[in-house]
Amino acid sequence: MVKHCLSLKDLTKEEIVNLLKLSQQIKQKIKNGENYEPLKGVILGMIFEKPSTRTRLSFETGMKRLGGDAVFLSPRDIQLGRGESIEDTARVISRYVDIIMIRTFEHSRIERFAQYSTVPVINALTDLLHPCQVLADLLTIKEKLGDIEGIKVAFFGDGNNMANSWIYAAAVVGFELRVATPVDCAPNGVVINNALKLAQKSGAKIILTDDPKEAAEGADVLYTDVWASMGQEDQKEKKHALMRPYQVNRELVKYANKDYIFMHCLPAHRGEEVEAEIIDDEKHSVVFDEAENRTYAQLATIMNLIGRF
Ligand code: CP
Ligand code: NVA
Repeated sequence: MVKHCLSLKDLTKEEIVNLLKLSQQIKQKIKNGENYEPLKGVILGMIFEKPSTRTRLSFETGMKRLGGDAVFLSPRDIQLGRGESIEDTARVISRYVDIIMIRTFEHSRIERFAQYSTVPVINALTDLLHPCQVLADLLTIKEKLGDIEGIKVAFFGDGNNMANSWIYAAAVVGFELRVATPVDCAPNGVVINNALKLAQKSGAKIILTDDPKEAAEGADVLYTDVWASMGQEDQKEKKHALMRPYQVNRELVKYANKDYIFMHCLPAHRGEEVEAEIIDDEKHSVVFDEAENRTYAQLATIMNLIGRF
């Protein structure tokens, strides 16, 4: 059976821990300028139905650095954009490449694609989940705080794909997560139910609240994301009005652990979900480390899925 990476829920804690270890090894080898080409001859297909800076660059440059290659596929250029079915697109593209990443809208699109693909598929963001980002973020936390065990993460703003992915990460790994959103913008209900079941086994503590101060209290990691995600442009005004109390600003960080780190998947909107003083505070903000770590976390995921070490 072909292995895919569509959701962190499908991984075990041990698999996540091992992926992070491999990510660190890959990072070290690349930084040392070692001749390391485990992906020689491997071609990644990259389908983007939404824009991207970090995801495209980290996948494409990462593949090339490890001896492989990548092909960028925009729906404007392939027949998918003119109505060829997801199922046929999956069957055809699998005949040319060794592994595929997709950024798309409804999560069911990537599930259908994966069902028909004969090569591994990686979720590079759907409306529901963004697992690659959270893997890179866990790597960043490990580097900055030493360990993931025992950390307290607080997420503020919209209950979106990032919030949902953090909920699965906490549930599988077993750390404490507080998610502060307006009641009308809570995370996905199915994700919450699945996560609460996983949490019984992992010991994760997952707290959902509409009180940002409660979430920030003693937190080691303060995380936020845009208030209106890609594809929600029409809801921007309504969401912005609701989200204002959830801005990560100088007032809110007073409640956190004094050595807190500030995280954001980027792109950021200074003055909206985060105050410029907070995201640009080099003592606490690790947002560009997160962006860099995308490369290593994704390369580890690719090597794992195709069995190349
Ligand atoms: N964080 C992230 O996925 O960024 P891009 O949208 O630029 O890929
Ligand atoms: N929630 C954001 C994440 C961007 C990386 C979006 O989906 O637009």
